Amino acid sequence: MTDFKRTLITTALPYANGPIHIGHLAGVYVPADIYARYLRLKNEDVLMIGGSDEHGVPITLKAKNEGVTPQDIVDRYHNIIKESFQKFGISFDVYSRTSSKTHHETAAEFFKKLYDTGKFIEKTSEQYYDEENNQFLADRYIIGTCPKCGFEKAYGDQCESCGTSLSPTELINPTSMISGNQPVLKETKHWYLPLDQYETWLKEWILEGHKEWKPNVYGQVKSWIDSGLQPRAVTRDLNWGVPVPVEGVEGKVLYVWFDAPIGYISATKELTPKWETYWKDPETRMLHFIGKDNIVFHCIIFPTMLKAEGTFNLPENVPANEFLNLENDKISTSRNWAVWLHEYLEEFPGKEDVLKYVLTANAPETKDNDFTWKDFQTRNNNELVAILGNFVNRALVLTHKYFDGEVPAPGELTNYDKETLKSISAIKAEVEKSLDSFRIREALKNAMDLARLGNKYLADEEPWKVYKTDVERVKTILNICLQISANLTICLEPFLPFSMERLRGFLNFTKQDWNKLGWTNLIPEGHKLNKPELLFEKIEDSIIELQLKKLMDTKKANELAEAKAKPAKDSIEFDDFGKIDIRVGTVLEAEKVAKTKKLLKLKIDTGFDKRTVVSGIAEYYKPEDLIGKQVSILVNLEPKKLRGIESQGMILCAENADGSLSIVEPDKKVKSGSEIR
Ligand code: MF3
Ligand code: ZN
Repeated sequence: MTDFKRTLITTALPYANGPIHIGHLAGVYVPADIYARYLRLKNEDVLMIGGSDEHGVPITLKAKNEGVTPQDIVDRYHNIIKESFQKFGISFDVYSRTSSKTHHETAAEFFKKLYDTGKFIEKTSEQYYDEENNQFLADRYIIGTCPKCGFEKAYGDQCESCGTSLSPTELINPTSMISGNQPVLKETKHWYLPLDQYETWLKEWILEGHKEWKPNVYGQVKSWIDSGLQPRAVTRDLNWGVPVPVEGVEGKVLYVWFDAPIGYISATKELTPKWETYWKDPETRMLHFIGKDNIVFHCIIFPTMLKAEGTFNLPENVPANEFLNLENDKISTSRNWAVWLHEYLEEFPGKEDVLKYVLTANAPETKDNDFTWKDFQTRNNNELVAILGNFVNRALVLTHKYFDGEVPAPGELTNYDKETLKSISAIKAEVEKSLDSFRIREALKNAMDLARLGNKYLADEEPWKVYKTDVERVKTILNICLQISANLTICLEPFLPFSMERLRGFLNFTKQDWNKLGWTNLIPEGHKLNKPELLFEKIEDSIIELQLKKLMDTKKANELAEAKAKPAKDSIEFDDFGKIDIRVGTVLEAEKVAKTKKLLKLKIDTGFDKRTVVSGIAEYYKPEDLIGKQVSILVNLEPKKLRGIESQGMILCAENADGSLSIVEPDKKVKSGSEIR
């Protein structure tokens, strides 16, 4: 294995068509951030690159739906995303965007080089075209029935139901997303990257050369290669994106998946004039942190682009994660099924590390995983508060109580003391082993073992009891506890950076390099500690219930939005309709029917009489709001006794998909008794 001098960490560029949610964080940004912080603590040369992916059809479609420009959309979300990452403490060295000038130039130049050196195939083919809008329908501009699974709303590039990647011409019943029309086929010219020509090389480079990649990554790559690679179009007929830099070509842009990964290069360029060292020096190790839906792009297509270009490094590893679900349901931006980072930051100020902790402890590293609010609460209360927070708090508070906040000098060490101190180095080795193989979740567990170690030591030694008989021994015990606490600020720094900064504040201790982890005299005797506060707070049930209620409301709203109208009933004769006498009435009096939840007793002026009606609308209307309101009333219905009251007619309501009722009223005031026909 090569010894690398530096590391370039790239993080998938999120589409600027929505804010960041916990799925993005758990899959990409939190693990990448932990790894980058770890390398920085080791004083390694490392860059962490990020930015917004601002091209592609989801963005232009959203702009169209909202009646704004694509630039408006990307400006809005780029800013929300960038700010939320910063507040959350994702430590990008640069966070750029693909609408930047540097990026447009870099991507165009990259394409031009492949074009000029004959790396593309030029091909004319028939593609779907919307005649009403005079536009070709690339990717998500077209929907239809999936040929594989029959899902009716599959996109032109992918079926979200079965995950198959598609091309528009495979769709059954294709329809334009813009006009809803059936598109026609029309000829158009595009450039293709001949992946098939790189098959042998890809097999050697990955299937032979990178057997150490995570099984989920290796497996997906293998199955792609095994099923045969095809030339892949790298241009599109669209007007949002990087224009194809070829003379005489108009109305065509680079395919978003061609330009976006080049965004990593552009962002590095914007960051440092030494960008080429990070991209081209073979002693630089490149790592792509991504989610599983990005695997083919980062393991097959982008490397092929880099290989074809010829002067760039290839990724050394692609530690892709699986998906995180939320309360047993797939996270979805369009269905608002997510915990949004910017909202979390508002609702849980100062608890950035808690979310990082839970997302890491539960990271979808080898299989899809589920985020639940209950688990969030449990891990906070039982792990961060009860183990880590509790340990350091007791160590600090007891030192203040017994020794005026000064680190006491240790006396002679028992075997148990020595073993405990020795364990710190063993834990360090475990954490390193896990981090170095991108098992971040396991690394956190290893690192928390240090807090567990301290907690157990303190509980076993019981200095609060020993103090009554042997103050000297207590000095040793607390010295050891404080050394462990100081070691914790190093060991947990990559995972819980805000909390470890606070802990260093309590310890009056500066940030230390990773190599000091394991030292048993990090804090000298006589060192003055600051007054501690609680490192973590318990999260109460009511907070969790509030979050669950928010999700329930989303679920209801989605059900409503997705509900289909009932089909029409069988037809009737006109005479049948004529028998029904519906009038406009005006509510004169309204009161709840005692001991019922749903019933209101109304007095209605029908124009020709005043009558009593019992109506099941009490859950939706307050009696006092109904007085004077006009309603539709079926007046020739057989009277019926309800709760001992004779109801002389029926108030007509629209029943919403969720079963709620809404009174049907004329849209202008009319005379009571007016017929409804
Ligand atoms: N925007 C893509 C997504 O969210 C990721 C792009 S990664 C890059 O799935 F490599 F293209 F930048
Ligand atoms: Zn399908």
